[in-house]
Amino acid sequence: MNRFTDRVALITGAASGVGRATARQMVSEGASVYGVDIDQEGLQSVSDELGERFSPKTVDIRNREVCHEAVNGCVEHFGKLDVVANVAGVVRSHHVTDVDEETWRLIMGVNLDGMFWITQAAIPHLEKTAGNIVNVASNAGFMGQAYTVPYCAAKGAVINMTRALAMEYIKSDIRINAIAPGGMKTAMTENWSAPDDIDFELMKTYTGFRGMAEPESAANAICWMASDEAARCTGSILSVDGGLTAA
Ligand SMILES: NC(=O)c1ccc[n+]([C@@H]2O[C@H](COP(=O)([O-])OP(=O)(O)OC[C@H]3O[C@@H](n4cnc5c(N)ncnc54)[C@H](O)[C@@H]3O)[C@@H](O)[C@H]2O)c1
Repeated sequence: MNRFTDRVALITGAASGVGRATARQMVSEGASVYGVDIDQEGLQSVSDELGERFSPKTVDIRNREVCHEAVNGCVEHFGKLDVVANVAGVVRSHHVTDVDEETWRLIMGVNLDGMFWITQAAIPHLEKTAGNIVNVASNAGFMGQAYTVPYCAAKGAVINMTRALAMEYIKSDIRINAIAPGGMKTAMTENWSAPDDIDFELMKTYTGFRGMAEPESAANAICWMASDEAARCTGSILSVDGGLTAA
């Protein structure tokens, strides 16, 4: 397939996991990818793998100004913007009573603020190309998960922000969608740590029946949603969670 021939995509979180798998897939299908991440070393390794059709940009997406600079940098470098994949995210696990301000701001800043700033900066460019945005939400945006309350709040907001954006641009040619993955084998889950005294019974409802997925499961959904095959989708939230939220 060559669904992204001559298309330019900006992908946040491109240094690792789902973002990296999405960059790899899009480049393999003809895209030029502007990879945005806070992890410079990770970006360098993606760049080494993918070559000159991947341009790395080290950015902390919590900052509005740098998000706008990154989007402009992408357009300067590759000449236009067709696709934004807002993939970057962080999770932390705490009892609600132990969440300090720094942790709350981190979770909201990366999962929600950054997505909004990148989107805001990208829209004028996407209007020129009839482009589209794919946001990465989570099953945590639909379910009440214990010990990750700020993350659930942020991902729930991502889902409704996606719908609201789609409605604001419903009379344009821009499409804005989200995918909502379940658990995947990435750095996020490999580095996950929880308080020692959590009640594991509460976790059973969101472990599901089909185990952990590879990041390519979400990357494939992002690529489909970003391609012309999904031309009819806007304001859609696609669950890619092994049936976790079907219950
Ligand atoms: N892994 C899972 O089980 C799972 C499940 C559901 C949803 N998700 C979502 O999928 C997306 C990708 O996560 P992943 O599993 O690939 O995790 P990951 O940790 O492998 O990748 C996340 C990337 O985001 C980057 N990032 C973090 N803070 C940043 C910042 N301030 N500015 C720019 N980049 C920043 C990280 O450096 C990293 O490269 C996230 O939005 C996550 O919430 C993951």
